[in-house]
Amino acid sequence: MNTPLQHPLHIACIMDGNGRWARRRGLPRTEGHTAGEEALAEVVRTAARLKTIGWLTVFGFSTENWVRPRTEVRHILSLHRKLFARTEEMNSNNAQTRWIGRPFSEKGARTPVYVQKAIKKAIADTSHNSGMAVTVAFDYGSRAELLRASQLAMKQGAVTAQSIQNNLYDPTLPAVDVLVRTSGETRISNFMLWQIKGCAVYFTERTWPDFNAHELQEAVTVLTGRSH
Ligand code: IPE
Ligand code: IPE
Ligand code: MG
Repeated sequence: MNTPLQHPLHIACIMDGNGRWARRRGLPRTEGHTAGEEALAEVVRTAARLKTIGWLTVFGFSTENWVRPRTEVRHILSLHRKLFARTEEMNSNNAQTRWIGRPFSEKGARTPVYVQKAIKKAIADTSHNSGMAVTVAFDYGSRAELLRASQLAMKQGAVTAQSIQNNLYDPTLPAVDVLVRTSGETRISNFMLWQIKGCAVYFTERTWPDFNAHELQEAVTVLTGRSH
């Protein structure tokens, strides 16, 4: 059945499989993360061109990922600094950079200052763009987000679905239409548990560095039943 698309779509991606991509090529895991960042750049370019996608949210680094080996974490952090510095590209895509994660000043938050600065600069330098919003989840975990939202809602006097929504890291993020997870895993891994309530899912065997424009379009077809 062909269902016309009603609104700018929100696609959320759990970018998994960087390590496996590297291992299959006999490369260090860090190379997989570097290749993953390039794949993300292509996905952003394609999504910006498609016009049907208004929101793209990607899982860059989770609250659970800090236990990874120090060298790997350091590499992922510096890749995020680079990712947030891609301002020219974001401007040419007319896309805003946004971020969700544990607020920097909150107890337990772990985003280092140099990444905080890159995030703030990226948001400021792309806020004038009127096209797609690209949100990077960094030091993000859905349980932390929902605990904080519930506590704030309680302080404000009423815990309701609306008051929790209003206290999410980015209350303006609409409901997710399609959740993508690469690399053959079918876990949600603490990603956007509130926002994915009624979403469609697209799981693929392909590792994230091999995810491309064509497959992004495939993911959108789970909503429309259309093939490109
Ligand atoms: C996803 O790839 C990137 C992050 C979680 C930061 P992985 O690093 O999880 O790759 P696999 O799952 O080990 O293949
Ligand atoms: C989820 O991937 C987190 C990100 C993509 C940033 P993981 O590879 O960390 O998830 P698990 O550990 O397999 O659930
Ligand atoms: Mg993984």
